[in-house]
Amino acid sequence: MTSLDGGDLDLLNPVRTADPPGDAPFTSTGRLPSRPTVTGLLRDAHATYATLDDGTVADYIPSLAAADPGRFGISVCGVDGTSFSIGDAQDAFSIQSVSKAFTFALVCGAIGHTTVREAVGVNNTGLAFDSVMALELNGGSPRNPMVNAGALVMISLVPGDSAAAKWQFLQEGMSRFAGRRLLLDVEVYESEAATNHRNRALAALLRSYGHMSYDPLLTTDIYTRQCSLLVSARDLAVMGATLADGGVNPLTHERVVDPSVCRDTLAVMAASGLYQRSGDWLYEVGLPGKSGVSGGIVTVAPGKGGLAAYSPRLDAAGTSIRGQHAIRSLSRSLGLDLFASAPVAGPAASGTPSERTT
Ligand code: DON
Repeated sequence: MTSLDGGDLDLLNPVRTADPPGDAPFTSTGRLPSRPTVTGLLRDAHATYATLDDGTVADYIPSLAAADPGRFGISVCGVDGTSFSIGDAQDAFSIQSVSKAFTFALVCGAIGHTTVREAVGVNNTGLAFDSVMALELNGGSPRNPMVNAGALVMISLVPGDSAAAKWQFLQEGMSRFAGRRLLLDVEVYESEAATNHRNRALAALLRSYGHMSYDPLLTTDIYTRQCSLLVSARDLAVMGATLADGGVNPLTHERVVDPSVCRDTLAVMAASGLYQRSGDWLYEVGLPGKSGVSGGIVTVAPGKGGLAAYSPRLDAAGTSIRGQHAIRSLSRSLGLDLFASAPVAGPAASGTPSERTT
């Protein structure tokens, strides 16, 4: 894959997820279903979507082309720390753009959301994650922290007076989200560092517009390291659960960020986490999400938990195809969709018009 620009969602996603059966917990309220129910639903989703062979593994970063396209894992972590995984949920892969959501949270926590919003913005570009045109159309403003240009500006805002200090801040912060020390995949890092001419160009362009406060080459290098941190689907579920849990990691019980930072991060993920397809995603899945080109996706159900998937075959916008399908289905069957509600018990629920007296 050389270009991940644009494309029609339905071309590569011909299978629409059926609505869940009538007795499924298809509302956004309450807790995750019981352990046997979650386990059964994960098993079903994995078996159903493991048969999809659409899409291609990313190869514009040469080392990513070596990924086994058949790998597929799903993981859920509740805010109470209970976790459920199926398939290749422990496979290690580079986090890539999924990292952008967590960097946004960490930097907002450190320097405040107002500064970050003024520097980066919170609106969708409507264009691909690596679009240069989006910058030119918007006077050099990246528009949001989920596209590469915005993620580069985020790196320039990371606290630290040296590249090493900035990197340490990020690696330690991401590790707190995951509840374990995350390590760099040196091969992926070196492969991307040798080929990331487009990101270097974006950083230079941002600098020319006055939107890049740190050295553009060092910024791109730190961003490339950030994208090369090794995670598993299970790690992503825990990281998502930390955002779902008001910023407290449900495994380590460590506070990583404040609740208000989680709230802002989820809003930005909802608006732009799936780039130009964020509207389709929100319409179909009803959850804030973030994808990456190595095949990871994380979604967050506030107050309930994190749901993550890994599968390297991607659609034209750079998002895992099996992962999208599995998460779309599980959002409904696990009752995570933020926009789904059911009437409360009472006259209205039984069809009788309600009357209110004052
Ligand atoms: O900057 C890049 O191109 C990669 N390191 C990350 C891109 C990415 O994951 C886009 N998401 N789907």
